Parts: sequence; C-alpha cells; structure tokens
Amino acid sequence: MTDPNDLAAFWAQAWQHLGRGVADGKSPARYPTFATVSPDGMPEVRTVALRRADSAAQVLEVHTDIETPKVAALRQTPWASLHVWLARADLQIRATARVDILTGPQVQADWDRVPAASRVSYGTNPVPGAPIDHVFAYDKPPDRDRFAVLRCHVAKLDLVHLGARHRRAVFERDTDWAGQWVAP
Ligand SMILES: Cc1cc2nc3c(=O)[nH]c(=O)nc-3n(C[C@H](O)[C@H](O)[C@H](O)COP(=O)(O)O)c2cc1C
Repeated sequence: MTDPNDLAAFWAQAWQHLGRGVADGKSPARYPTFATVSPDGMPEVRTVALRRADSAAQVLEVHTDIETPKVAALRQTPWASLHVWLARADLQIRATARVDILTGPQVQADWDRVPAASRVSYGTNPVPGAPIDHVFAYDKPPDRDRFAVLRCHVAKLDLVHLGARHRRAVFERDTDWAGQWVAP
C-alpha cells in the first residue's frame, strides 16, 4: 500500500485515473463535468468527454463545437473547472485550467482521428441551444470548420480522498506542483 502521506503518489494517482478516462469509455473519468463562467457572469456546467490527459504537460483536452455556448463563455473568460468523482476509488478530482480554443489547421490531426459516427457532434443545424419548432427539427452534418479542441492548461488540482481518514491536497502550477495537504 502506498504511503498516505505521499503527496507525489496522490498526484500520480489522480493523473493515472485521468489517463484511464481517456483510454477507457467505461471509466468515470471519461465524462468530467466541465464548468465555465457565462458571458453574463453565471456559473454553467455540462458533461464532456475527456480526450487527452498529459500529466507531464499538465494538460487536459476536450472536443467541442465552436458554436456551443461554452465556447462563447470561454472567449470571454478563458477558465474552466473540470470535476470527476471516482466512486470506486473514493476520489474527487477538481482541476482549474486556462483554456485555449484551438480550431482549423491546428486541429486537423485531431479531426482525422474522430470516428465518422462522432463527427456529427460538430456541426448541428441550427446551432446548439437555438429554439426549434419540433423536437427533431435539426440535422447534424459533420463540419470540420466547427470542430474545436479545448486545450486546458491545468493551474490547480484539488484532490479529495475519502478513506478511514479523509485526505485532501491542493497542487498549483505557481508552486511547481509541490502540493499542500489541506483540511478536507
Ligand atoms: C455523456 C455526454 C458526453 C458529452 N460529451 C461532450 C463533449 O465531449 N463535448 C461537448 O461539447 N459536448 C458534450 N456533451 C454535450 C454537452 O453536455 C452539452 O449538452 C453541449 O455541449 C452544449 O453545452 P453548452 O450549451 O453548455 O455549450 C456531452 C453530453 C453527454 C451527456
């Protein structure tokens, strides 16, 4: 068993779960809750699929349609919070990240890897959130020009582990990820 005082092991465990979320569609880390601040300053959340987790670069990536309201939110406030609850591991992961919205030629390689069946998630007509006359009064042509990668540069990671004694730690880029135990 790993030393419960080991901050580095706690950090590594969180990134291992995030990596598994990318690789395994059945992992609860596959579908984080992604929070942004709307242009009028309101909190907003939605489920997304985790597409990349790079522990060395501290980067998480999500794919989206540039016409979704979350992109308008990020254009104004380029910060997001990602939340995952891993019930079997009794672990909550919260990441605060500065988000780059990548489109066009810089995401061509990502688009090439998106399965044909999934490409229809990028290009809904009318745009996501627009009122429609009937429940199915929309179509979903794939549109590469609407495809975006949200590259989330993690600035802070807050981990909570519910054990016999709870553990919580905060890791911040500003302190070179040294990590700090905090009261849970
Ligand atoms: C299981 C699941 C996975 C989803 N994955 C994504 C995703 O990877 N990217 C995305 O933009 N929306 C995804 N969605 C849809 C969003 O939750 C949301 O409805 C949509 O993106 C519009 O969000 P917005 O209006 O807040 O921008 C997913 C929804 C579910 C239920």
